[in-house]
Amino acid sequence: MVKRLLSPGAMSKKVIVTGGAGFIGSHTVVELAVAGYEPVIIDDLRNSEERALEGIAAILGQAPTIHRIDCNDAEAMRRMLKQEGAVLGAIHFAADKAVGESVTDPAKYYRNNIGSLAVLLGLLREHGVHDLVFSSSCTVYGEPASLPVDETAPDANATSPYGFTKVACERLVRDQCTAVPSLKAVLLRYFNPIGAHPSSLIGELPRGVPNNLVPYVAQTAAGVREKLRVNGDDYDTVDGTCIRDYIHVVDLAQAHVRALQWMSERQAPLCEVFNLGTGAGNSVLEVVRTFEQVNGVKVPFEVGPRRAGDVVSVYADTRRSWEVLGWRTQRSLADALRDAWRWQQGL
Ligand code: UFG
Repeated sequence: MVKRLLSPGAMSKKVIVTGGAGFIGSHTVVELAVAGYEPVIIDDLRNSEERALEGIAAILGQAPTIHRIDCNDAEAMRRMLKQEGAVLGAIHFAADKAVGESVTDPAKYYRNNIGSLAVLLGLLREHGVHDLVFSSSCTVYGEPASLPVDETAPDANATSPYGFTKVACERLVRDQCTAVPSLKAVLLRYFNPIGAHPSSLIGELPRGVPNNLVPYVAQTAAGVREKLRVNGDDYDTVDGTCIRDYIHVVDLAQAHVRALQWMSERQAPLCEVFNLGTGAGNSVLEVVRTFEQVNGVKVPFEVGPRRAGDVVSVYADTRRSWEVLGWRTQRSLADALRDAWRWQQGL
């Protein structure tokens, strides 16, 4: 009886994972497979590496399914969906994410980030795929008026073109949910994902000089970089450095599995937004000190000027993701920094 109410897609375990070879994508592919789903990676590896696929294969004991196509290529995406047949849902990670580059090349960000989502939404509708998880960011809050920031805070304060593409994509998903009553969507706003899989087989693979704090710290400890530059210590915070909510990437990956399960237990229409963070804020210097302590290594640093556009302080109100989704983090900052260091040592 129940079966007759379900669409063919709902019987499938296949989940399309765009950007599935990336940092968060690869960890999510692993957690999906562990939970019994069949992840199908869509990634042309423009911002990731073969090594991520090898790592996933080593963890799971079998090579993941991958289509090496550009998510913006509607024809290739259509062929892929035809070939895959019935699909349960999609998780859309594929996007450019360098804040600085988005300022110098905004058109690239608008085209790739918003364009690829528009292509995907059109095809999900065409193929009757109803469940979507979208990869958003706490960047939509800009500098929040109060902390911890909850999901009702205004999302119009994004400071970079990258941030604005996340605001625009969230809006696009909401509009699509209104237009397509069978569509269910969960928008996940990530805080600062760090760490690596405890197996050290997958992790973050920054290209060139890392933009983000933890990969820079790890490379400095390893001697790849001479010194960390702390971007300003004259902010109005506990020690003058900026505060972020650093979340272990495996916790984050597991939230995607939970979001899919949660959606499958519910009827359309549905379009919900959740913060994914730990709820705790840590300063740049706290991260450096914790890294040194848990790993028994030195991280030489100097204090430099403030970084343009930096938010001073942001951390998540996690009540909604716990009370509604039933998800919360299980790993500490120390766990994440230990895993980040183990991964760095294997590079
Ligand atoms: N920082 C340093 N030195 C460095 C690198 C970073 O002091 O070498 C500082 C930054 O100035 C900031 C903090 O460390 O105060 C965290 O910086 P990250 O670059 O690691 O992270 P952000 O919070 O700036 O940005 C991240 C993602 C963005 C996303 C944003 C909000 O990189 O893609 O979170 O979601 F938009």
